[in-house]
Amino acid sequence: MKEQLEQIRASAMAALDQAADAPALEALRVKILGKKGELTAVLKTMGALPAEERPAMGQMANTVRADIEKRLEQRRSELSAQALQAKLRAEAVDVTIPGQPVQQGHKHPMYKALDEAKEIFIGMGFQILDGPEVELAEYNFTKLNTEEGHPARDWSDTFYLAEDSSVLLRTQTSPMQIRAMEAMKPPIRILAPGRVFRKDEVDATHSPMFHQIEGLVVDKGITMADLKGTLETLVKSLYGEDSVIRLRPHHFPFTEPSCEVDVQCFKCHGEGCPTCKGEGWIELLGAGMVHPKVLENCGIDPNEYSGFAFGIGLERMAMRRFQISDLRLIFENDIRFLSQF
Ligand code: DAH
Repeated sequence: MKEQLEQIRASAMAALDQAADAPALEALRVKILGKKGELTAVLKTMGALPAEERPAMGQMANTVRADIEKRLEQRRSELSAQALQAKLRAEAVDVTIPGQPVQQGHKHPMYKALDEAKEIFIGMGFQILDGPEVELAEYNFTKLNTEEGHPARDWSDTFYLAEDSSVLLRTQTSPMQIRAMEAMKPPIRILAPGRVFRKDEVDATHSPMFHQIEGLVVDKGITMADLKGTLETLVKSLYGEDSVIRLRPHHFPFTEPSCEVDVQCFKCHGEGCPTCKGEGWIELLGAGMVHPKVLENCGIDPNEYSGFAFGIGLERMAMRRFQISDLRLIFENDIRFLSQF
């Protein structure tokens, strides 16, 4: 029996050393120490031994079992350490490998110019408004003192959406003046940028869709001097402190008096050059004092309040700001062009 036990110990130790993983270890444990295992089988024959040999054999069997269990435990922790090492090696991340560069975009130059303009006006206490592109003719024209039959309402210029010409794609952001005056009480200081639509052929300076920025101020005692000061602040912030503007008489149905505002050419300072087409001045926007009828149309008493309004072409402003020569470049979304700004 002694030899049997020695034999079991020796072969168990060898087998345990060979076991490659946890399931193999478990199988060995069952095979050797389990209820039907080799060691158990030997112990069952103990009864056949002479009584005086039993204690020594019993002790030896216990020692063999303890040795095997100890080795089993050792192998178990060796194998789990090995498994952990293998897992760590397999999942290793090399933090020194350079990352894949992410191409980051940026704002469109026109929206950069718009953001600059917004900042300037917010600094002067203006509120930014957004309004519908599908507009009522009543707001786009009638309440802006542009009655039925006015040439501006012509079918050849305007995208009408209703047979009776009552609904259209707004041709200007000026209807936002009406919406602001109907929704707010003076003092009003708003800036309303947005898309406008006209039946224009595409060329270097025209597009059937473009953007305007509408401005409106209504309060007691507002004069043309406030208009000029406000626009001067805008132009100096956008184009530099030495910029000069001039107001030129013009006509708009919803302002009286009305003007167009030019900025002195920043290339030639009024001398005349290709940038300003020899004029010395570059047209920037339309403006004027809000017509008393327009105030009345919105329930504001023109004897108590006055106001000024202006409308800036955003593309034109951005083209000047970034020296872009062709309007189409703004809309084509060619990355090679856009990434320059
Ligand atoms: N809405 C005009 C246009 O599209 C521009 C304009 C002129 C707006 C005078 C105004 C203004 O607010 O006072 O041509």
